[in-house]
Amino acid sequence: MSKRFTLTAALPYSNGPIHIGHLAGVYIPADIYARYLRLLGNDVVFICGSDEHGVPITIKAKKENVSPQIIVDRYHKIIKDSFAEFGISFDNYSRTSNTIHHETASYFFKKLYENDKFVVEVSDQLYDSDAKQFLPDRFVVGTCPKCGNNESYGDQCEACGSIHNGTDLIDPKSVISGNSPILKSTKHWYLPLNKYQKFLRQWIGEEHKNDWKSNVYGQCMSWINDDLRPRAVTRDLDWGIPVPIEGEKGKVLYVWFDAPIGYISSTKEWAKKEGKDWEPYWKDQDTSLVHFIGKDNIVFHCIIFPSMLKAEGSYILPKNVPANEFLNLEGKKISTSKNWAVWLTDYLKDFPNQQDVLRYVLISTAPETKDNDFTWKDFQSRNNNELVAIFGNFVNRVVVLTHKYYKGHVPSATDLKSDDHYVLDLLSKTPNSLKFSLDRFRFREANQTMINLARSGNKYLADQEPWKLIKSDPIRVQTVINTALQIVAGLALVSEPFLPFTSSRLKSMLVLDKELSWDGITSGDILLPVHHRINQAELLFNKIEDSQIFSQLSKLNS
Ligand code: MF3
Ligand code: ZN
Repeated sequence: MSKRFTLTAALPYSNGPIHIGHLAGVYIPADIYARYLRLLGNDVVFICGSDEHGVPITIKAKKENVSPQIIVDRYHKIIKDSFAEFGISFDNYSRTSNTIHHETASYFFKKLYENDKFVVEVSDQLYDSDAKQFLPDRFVVGTCPKCGNNESYGDQCEACGSIHNGTDLIDPKSVISGNSPILKSTKHWYLPLNKYQKFLRQWIGEEHKNDWKSNVYGQCMSWINDDLRPRAVTRDLDWGIPVPIEGEKGKVLYVWFDAPIGYISSTKEWAKKEGKDWEPYWKDQDTSLVHFIGKDNIVFHCIIFPSMLKAEGSYILPKNVPANEFLNLEGKKISTSKNWAVWLTDYLKDFPNQQDVLRYVLISTAPETKDNDFTWKDFQSRNNNELVAIFGNFVNRVVVLTHKYYKGHVPSATDLKSDDHYVLDLLSKTPNSLKFSLDRFRFREANQTMINLARSGNKYLADQEPWKLIKSDPIRVQTVINTALQIVAGLALVSEPFLPFTSSRLKSMLVLDKELSWDGITSGDILLPVHHRINQAELLFNKIEDSQIFSQLSKLNS
C-alpha cells in the first residue's frame, strides 16, 4: 500500500564543503531510505537545503572580511553540487536565505508569539566590550558545566551533547577577542521547554520506546528526566531572520529556531514547483515524518523542534529520528579546522566516476550504533575484495559468457536442479530481507544482504563451472546461464538504493524492463525472458592500487 513520507536530512551549514563524515552519518542513509521507499511505490518527498544563518557563518565571514552572504553563496553551490554528484536524490535542495524561508519562519514565530507560547525575559548575557557585541552560541567558548570539556560552545557542548546558556559556561572567553566577557542586560523570547516535559515523556518515553534507535532514545530520556529549562529563541545578532515584532531592532531568530523550519519551507518550495499541496506532507496524520541527522543534532530534533511543532499545533511530529554516531578518519576525529577530512570534491578528482565505491564503503562502516572508523586500507580492500572480486566479477562473467555462447541472447532454462533453486530462492527472499533491515534503519545489514546476493551468485557460477560443462553438457549450461542472468538482473534491481550509478549501468547492460519491481522478484517473476538480448559487458568496478592508497594517506598527513 502506498504511503506518504516526508524525509528530511539535516541542513548543512553553508560555511564549508561536505566531507565523508557528513555522507556516512546522514546523507547516504537518508538517500538509501528515500530510494527504497520510492521503489516500493510510496509518495515520498526528500527534503534538504543549506543552513545559512547562525554564528559559524558570521565567524567565517568576519575572518575573511566579507559579508555572510558571500560565504553562503559560495558554499551553497559547492554543497549542492556535491550532493548531486553523489546521487543524493533530494526532491528539493533549498536554502534558508530564500524569501520563502524568511516568510515561513517569521510566520511560525509570530503564531507562537500571538498565542502566548513564549515567555519574554530581560536578563544579563555575555557581552564583548571590545567588539561591542553580545556573544551568543559559538561566539563564546568555555568549560561545560556538565562534563568539564573546556571547549564547549555557548549553546551546546559537542563533547557531551548537552545544551546550555552562554552564562552557564565556566570561565567563558570571547571567540572574537579572546577576552573574558562582561554581562549586559538584554531582552529575549524563550520557549518554555519545561512546559513540554510531560508531553515529551509521554510521546518519546512511551510511544517511541521500542521503535527509536537506542542511542537516540537513551539521550532523549536523559534530557527529559533532567530538568528542561526555557530556551531563548532570539539572539542579539545582525545576520539571520529579523524578529518579527514591531519595534524590535537588532535581534534575529536563533538559528536552531529557524533552521528546522527550513524543512517546511523547502517542502513548500518543492510543492510550488511541482504544482502540489505541501500541507499533507506536514499536517496529515497518515504522513510519516522522518529526520535523518547526526548525533549532535538529537536534542534539536527530538526535544526543541517537536516542542515548537506542538506549540504551533497544526503539525505532525516525527515518526522517527534515526540519528547516527560519528565517523572518524584513520583513528582520529574528523576536523575541518585541522583539515583532517576527506572532502567530496577531492575524492571525485582522485576517483572519478567512483561515487558508488565511496557510498558502498561508507555504508559498510556507517556509525549506526557507535562511532566508527574510515581507513583508506579498508576502502581499498572493500573495493578490491567485494565490489571488484564479487559483484563486478560475477556480473562480468555472466554477461561475457552469454555473449560467447549465445550471442547475447538469454538461453532457456529447461531442467532446474536443487543448486539452481537454491540461488533463485535466495533471490526471491532478498527483497523482504532488505525491507526488514531498511524499515529498522539498519543500513549496514541491508547492504550486506545486497552484496551477499552477489556473493551467492558468484559462488553458484564457480561451483557450476559452465566454462567446463560447455563441452560435455551444453543443455545444462543454458540453465546455468539463465539462472545466473536472473540473479544479475535481481542485483541490478536490489542494488539501486545503495549503488545507484552501478544499478543504472547494469540495467542498461541488461536492457532491463523499467517496470520490474521488488515485489516481482519476491513473487518469482522471470526478470530476463528467454531470447531477450543483452548488451556487451562493461566493467563496473576497477581495482584500486596500493599507490593510490599511499597517495591518499600522504595527502592526509601533509
Ligand atoms: N546546520 C546544522 C548542523 O550542521 C544542522 C541543522 S538541521 C536543521 O549541525 F534541522 F536545523 F535544519
Ligand atoms: Zn559537556
